[in-house]
Amino acid sequence: MKIKNIEFENGLFLAPMAGVADRAFRHMCKKYGAEGVVTEMISSKALVFGDKKTEILAKIDSYERPCALQLFGSDPLTMAKAAEIAMKFSPDIIDINMGCPVHKIVSSGDGSALMKNPALAYEVICSVVNSVGDKVPVTVKIRSGYDVSHINAPEIAMLAEKAGVSAIFVHGRTRDQMYAPPCDLETIKKVKMAVSVPVIGNGDIFTCEDAERMFSETGCDGIMIGRGALGNPYFFFQLKHFLKTGEKLPSQNLKDKMIDIEEHMRILCSEKGEKTASAECRKHLSWYVKGVRGSASLRDCINRTDNIENTLNIIRKAFDNCNTLS
Ligand SMILES: Cc1cc2nc3c(=O)[nH]c(=O)nc-3n(C[C@H](O)[C@H](O)[C@H](O)COP(=O)(O)O)c2cc1C
Repeated sequence: MKIKNIEFENGLFLAPMAGVADRAFRHMCKKYGAEGVVTEMISSKALVFGDKKTEILAKIDSYERPCALQLFGSDPLTMAKAAEIAMKFSPDIIDINMGCPVHKIVSSGDGSALMKNPALAYEVICSVVNSVGDKVPVTVKIRSGYDVSHINAPEIAMLAEKAGVSAIFVHGRTRDQMYAPPCDLETIKKVKMAVSVPVIGNGDIFTCEDAERMFSETGCDGIMIGRGALGNPYFFFQLKHFLKTGEKLPSQNLKDKMIDIEEHMRILCSEKGEKTASAECRKHLSWYVKGVRGSASLRDCINRTDNIENTLNIIRKAFDNCNTLS
């Protein structure tokens, strides 16, 4: 599939995840075959105000390209200005967030709140498309609707296409559902039938069979994976292999997992410094050890230590024990 002139072999995308899918995690997913990645959501207002922390979020490494820079906001002029400023980070795509369900964002009219106001959503998209011109494609990431009585993703998708977007990411849940099941594949299918730009299906892809179902039941052009990759960037390798051959690869062995954990932590430390990394590493390490024998007590250790090297030694020992036992 293609988003404008950018080719994606199998249409495999890593979902934007604030506080999680930073450059270090995106690097790991890229290594295993994520074909497109997205920055954490970036406040259009903060970018326009020149906030330094926001600028750090917007940085894109050459290794992770093609990478979309995701903006949130609901003021057309601020969004246009932010998109213009975003160009200095050379994003490959500008994505507009219309899915964030978090109260703080929605109460300002941003994120999924825009789906309640199609006219404003259209204005925001037009404004960003006009601002970036031919420089990069613009995409939009939407939910199935705001709530169960307002499932309007097909309508928003048609407006987005009219406004000039080059692809649409659809998370098959309403804002009210937050992340609770089920994911509504039927609405993703309706979006796909409503527009001619590529549609990327998102929601609850945790196995190769889930990916196959997303493709076959919705007719989508690509898939986007969020939580399924947490502590398991190798999932992209399994997916890629499955989509090419129909064959399911076994889970990653613990020796290779340990190598990945060390690489991920090395990048996290070099990106954010030891102190910040020591706090931020905990969630990732807890996800990495999920399902491993003795993971509950391991998670306990992870949450108590504030020294990455010590924590890695504990995980290494636990993994070695599992290898000896199995
Ligand atoms: C921790 C977390 C942070 C997220 N942050 C963003 C974000 O910044 N922008 C966005 O569009 N979606 C965000 N999402 C939503 C995901 O991109 C995705 O749509 C959702 O998790 C469903 O996909 P999944 O079932 O594969 O996880 C976030 C999700 C999670 C779990």
